[in-house]
Amino acid sequence: MNKETNWVDVAWSGIVTKVKKTSQEMTVPFPSMTENGEYCNTHQPWAWVVGFWPGILWLLYEKESYEPFKEMAIDRENIMDGPLDEYVNIHHDVGFMWQLTSVKQFELLATPQSRTRALRAASHLASRFNINGRFLTAWNKNDVSVADPRGLSIIDSMMNLPILYWAAEQLDAPRFKLIAMAHADTVLKEFIREDGSVRHMVEFDYLTGEVKSYHGGQGDNKNSAWSRGASWAIHGCALSYQYTQEPRYLEASMKTADFFISQLPKDFVPHWDFRAPIDENTPRDTSAAACAASGLLLLADLLDDVDKKAHYAGVANKVLESLYRQYATFNDDTQQGILTGGAFNCPKNLGINCSLIYGDYYFVEAISKMKNRCSGADNPLNMI
Ligand code: GLY
Repeated sequence: MNKETNWVDVAWSGIVTKVKKTSQEMTVPFPSMTENGEYCNTHQPWAWVVGFWPGILWLLYEKESYEPFKEMAIDRENIMDGPLDEYVNIHHDVGFMWQLTSVKQFELLATPQSRTRALRAASHLASRFNINGRFLTAWNKNDVSVADPRGLSIIDSMMNLPILYWAAEQLDAPRFKLIAMAHADTVLKEFIREDGSVRHMVEFDYLTGEVKSYHGGQGDNKNSAWSRGASWAIHGCALSYQYTQEPRYLEASMKTADFFISQLPKDFVPHWDFRAPIDENTPRDTSAAACAASGLLLLADLLDDVDKKAHYAGVANKVLESLYRQYATFNDDTQQGILTGGAFNCPKNLGINCSLIYGDYYFVEAISKMKNRCSGADNPLNMI
C-alpha cells in the first residue's frame, strides 16, 4: 500500500469513528456549525444546511452498511417533510436539501416516498425560474438582508441543478433539464468573470431580466472572489457537464478551477476570499477547500485528456491531504465536527474557524471518491 492510499484509509476510518461518536452525543437534529467544538443549529428548520448531516450518514452507510447511520438518515429526512409540506419558506436550495437525502435514499433503497419528495422539491425549484432573466430566484421576501430578493440569483444555485437534471430523467420530462441549462448558461454569462473568478450575487430586474447590480454577498465586496463561491462554480459546472455532456460547462468548470488553483496558498487551503486583504490572521475556509476538491475529482473523471485528469486529481489530492493533516479532528475528542477551519460568513463575522456541516459533507464525499480510486473501483486511468 503506498503512502497516498494509506492516508485516505486512515482518514476514512477517522471519519467513521467520529460520526459514530458525534451521532450519539449531538443534541441537535440538524447541525450547522460548531461552537466551542459542539455542533449546534443556528438555522431555521427550512435552511439550506439541513440535508448535509443525513447526507454524511448516507455516504457512510453506502460503504459501511452500519444500520444506525441508515436509521438516523431516514429519521432526519422524515422531519424534513415539515418544511416541504409547509412550502412557503422553501427556496432555491432544495437541491442541497433533497438531493443528498431523498435522491440518495431512492438510489440506495428505492424508497418510493423519497422519490416523490425529491420530485416535489425539483418542481418547486423549477417554479423559481424567472423567464425573462433566465435565472433561478434564490430567496423569498424577508429571507435576506438585501432590500428586494425578487431578482436575486446566486452562484450557490449551480449545486442545486442536479435535482432538476435528475427529475428530467425520472419523469422523462425535458422541461426540468431545459430550466437547469438556461440557468447554467446565465451563470456562465453573468457570474463567471473573464479571469475565472466568480461573483456571489447578481441582481436582475425581475421584470425585464436585465442585470441591475452585483452584491458582495458572503464575499469581501462586489469585485472580490469569495472562495466558497468559486468552489460552488467548479463543482456545479462539472455536475452540469456530467448530466448534459455540453462542453461549455466542462470549460467553465476548468476555467473556474484554474483560477481557484492559481490563488491557493502553499498549503492548498484557500483563504475565505481570494481578494480580501490577506495576512497571517486572515481566515481560511476549509469548506471551500473540501467542496472544490470533490468537484476537482469529478472534473478529473469527466475529462478525456490524461494530463488534465492527472492535474486536477493531483491538486484535489493535495488539498485533501492538507485538510486531513492540518484540520481533521480525529485526535481531538472535544470536537464534534470532522474539519475545523471553516468560515461561514466573514462580512457578518459569523461562524469563523469552526466546523461547518457542509465542509464536513464535502470532505466525506471527496474521501469516499478517493477510496474508490485507491481501491480501483473507479476507472484505473483516474488513479493518481
Ligand atoms: N449557500 C450559502 C453558503 O455557501 O454559505
